[in-house]
Amino acid sequence: MEIFYEIKPLRKRLSALRKQGKKIGFVATMGALHDGHASLVEASNRDNDVTVVSVFVNPTQFNNPDDLAKYPRDLQADIKLLEYNEADILFAPSESEMYPEEDNRQFELGAVAEVMEGKYRPGHFNGVCQIVSKLLSIVEPDNAYFGQKDFQQIAVIRAMVRKYMRDFKGKIVSCPIKREADGLALSSRNQLLTPEQRVSALLISKTLFKAKEMSDNGSTQAQIIDYIKKSIATDANLCLEYVEIADRDTLQPIASEKPENAVICITVYDGKVRLIDNILL
Ligand code: PAF
Repeated sequence: MEIFYEIKPLRKRLSALRKQGKKIGFVATMGALHDGHASLVEASNRDNDVTVVSVFVNPTQFNNPDDLAKYPRDLQADIKLLEYNEADILFAPSESEMYPEEDNRQFELGAVAEVMEGKYRPGHFNGVCQIVSKLLSIVEPDNAYFGQKDFQQIAVIRAMVRKYMRDFKGKIVSCPIKREADGLALSSRNQLLTPEQRVSALLISKTLFKAKEMSDNGSTQAQIIDYIKKSIATDANLCLEYVEIADRDTLQPIASEKPENAVICITVYDGKVRLIDNILL
């Protein structure tokens, strides 16, 4: 695997590959890589000739300095995982490389970015748009892969590309959530859980699976939300931040009593660790 720390030589290398007719796939990450990321690399390898992965913990998307400080980092372990999964190029820039000066761009994306994560993490999606727009402009991939665990993030990135990157020709590809055998959605933050919190975390996916079953059996939105709130409240380690049933495309509330073309998005604190998950109905 080739490793680049700077934009200029990476661009030069990618331009040479493009001239050879190579199709380029891209996976943006903040490191602390796990099998969820490996599945994105696998999807990219399947559809493209070259897979580029970025590892960069983007400070502008953290609205909580403590969260940024605690975010797990281990570049050597990331390199091992990427080599094992046959990524071709790693881009691991420094903060000054990505932000030589303050990025003051404000992305106005309307309702899709204002609900859920947008409401509870003010500024988060603006930071995501800052870094993703930079990375997409540098790599200019044919396909860029994002995990569905961050369901709203994908909708926001698509909206950002439509509105602010009209020249971008690549495709934003959404990939299914990867889960542990017991159901817990893979996340870099899972590393921060104590063994006891890890047991508690399991209740999140368990609750979502049951909620889907309720929806399949005709329960109303109100019944499903009521069940989820009660279920999460049974574990003393867990504290529900929000749960919403939303339209999959607009992420806005659904008018009908029973959810259709919907997604349940949930965020729960497990001790101090913030975990998100979702399920399609
Ligand atoms: O999903 C993530 O890991 C990050 O939000 C992303 C897309 C790499 C931007 O920093």
